[in-house]
Amino acid sequence: MQQIVSPSLLSCDFLNIENEIKCFNTMEDVWFHLDIMDGHFVPNLTFGLPIIKLMPKITSIKLDAHFMVSNPEFHIEDFKYSGIHNFTFHFEATNSPLELIKKAKQYYPSVGISLRPNTPLSVLTDEMLQTLDMVLIMSVEPGFGGQSFIEGTWDKLAELSKRQQTLGTNLMVQVDGGVTNVNSKQLREAGATNLVAGSYIFKDGPSSYLEKVNSLK
Ligand code: DX5
Ligand code: ZN
Repeated sequence: MQQIVSPSLLSCDFLNIENEIKCFNTMEDVWFHLDIMDGHFVPNLTFGLPIIKLMPKITSIKLDAHFMVSNPEFHIEDFKYSGIHNFTFHFEATNSPLELIKKAKQYYPSVGISLRPNTPLSVLTDEMLQTLDMVLIMSVEPGFGGQSFIEGTWDKLAELSKRQQTLGTNLMVQVDGGVTNVNSKQLREAGATNLVAGSYIFKDGPSSYLEKVNSLK
């Protein structure tokens, strides 16, 4: 499977977001990770539809929306013309995850479900794994960039690999939070196929973006 790197725009320079986005336009196997927070599911607010729907005007890089919101079902239809490629919502935010996965699949080429660090992988049924395109394993508590990687992530990745082997699925496995060039190789070996990185990619400015992205592949 393709090895994707997803720069998280949460850590970009928001006053200069157009130029920040354009810096990645010529890179391959990159998705833009968009952290949508509602101040309720997580104690932080970010951006939503008015900003996201403008992005396809300046980039053809795939948009990967990570909804950290209490009512993801409210947004499934709202975002259908926004240009989003992947719609990820949190398992903990809904009582009917399978229903939501199926609904989102009507509108988006790819649908993911995300698990907070303390949510066990066992909450995902075989049918969910067989219907999803991606599982997002949070390696920090969702809400903020710049946190340290939680070591429990390794066990969850190993369990997911085993489940995938048993089921014969080939889901994209995304890891989000505290990802750097120090843990990326081990994450790839553990089965991660899509690494999200915010502070690591953006902290030294545009001249290092390409090198940073390549270091995570
Ligand atoms: C955290 C977000 C992440 C965040 C990662 O809630 O889901 O996508 O941007 O930031 P870093 O890479 O700095 O841990
Ligand atoms: Zn995220």
